[in-house]
Amino acid sequence: MKMSKPISILGIFVADLTFRSNRMPRQGETFIGNSFKLGPGGKGSNQAVAARRAGAKTMFITKVGKDTFGEMAMKLYADEGINSEFVWEIPKNSTGAAAIMVNEESGDNAIIVVPGAADELVPDDLEDAEAGIAECAYFMASLEVPIPVMQRGLEVAKRNGVPTILNPAPAAILPDEVYGLSDYFTPNETEASMLAGIPVETVEQARDAAKVFMDRGVDTVVITLGENGAYVRNSEIRQHVPAFDMGDKVLETTGAGDAFNGGFAHALAEGMPLIDAVRFGSATAAISVTRLGTAPAMPYNNEIQQLLDSQNTQ
Ligand code: RIB
Repeated sequence: MKMSKPISILGIFVADLTFRSNRMPRQGETFIGNSFKLGPGGKGSNQAVAARRAGAKTMFITKVGKDTFGEMAMKLYADEGINSEFVWEIPKNSTGAAAIMVNEESGDNAIIVVPGAADELVPDDLEDAEAGIAECAYFMASLEVPIPVMQRGLEVAKRNGVPTILNPAPAAILPDEVYGLSDYFTPNETEASMLAGIPVETVEQARDAAKVFMDRGVDTVVITLGENGAYVRNSEIRQHVPAFDMGDKVLETTGAGDAFNGGFAHALAEGMPLIDAVRFGSATAAISVTRLGTAPAMPYNNEIQQLLDSQNTQ
């Protein structure tokens, strides 16, 4: 497979502790659930796995602890072939963890994330990673790292002429300058609603929210709308891209946004036109929701291609 320039991704690794049951617990309640799984997670790390499996050369930037979960992270990057030169192992804090509760009846989830060692990232760490970032086709960040760290990452990328993708997840108030530093801005509907300050449930509302972000300085907005697809807007394009319908194959939607962003970043790095890149990201997410877990659910390039080809011929 032809490999283009790498993608650098700033984010966190956490161990996902996933508890599955038929309903969510009520406050103060203890009950017996259905199953438990421990696996690699964290939005940025999941995005790195998705991009890598989609075919991108990928470099990940984070901090992990010198502990069992930190070893899980380093093994993941070695196994997946992700460049971990800028994954710093620090002794003074433990690797983070996420408690994920999945309601198997409704498919809903609820997540508490504790970034742990990744909270020790400081803006100057991004200066240390500058040589690596400068060689990349794209730089992508999300909001599980401290906001000043994310912002410095975007600044380092921009001053090296590297286009930036900001996935504002989980939603947080952003300094105004961050919008102008984001070439691509990829919230889901909940994040878009919180950041734009308007409801985002329909394609029309996504169009209005995208305009808000563009007025703040974003170049291209891609709002993911779950089973309703994605809305894309920049100065030339205003387009709704439908989702892939996976019907009753859907098992778990946790990590679907990470799959989208990883696939999307890879497609952009390959030079695909914007709408094709959004379709590639959507196909990546569509396959990921048919599997359990987050990072382990990410599909490989041939699987994504197969789904895209099957829809093109219908
Ligand atoms: O987007 C899903 C991810 O969010 C999970 O892997 C969990 O770790 C949280 O960070």
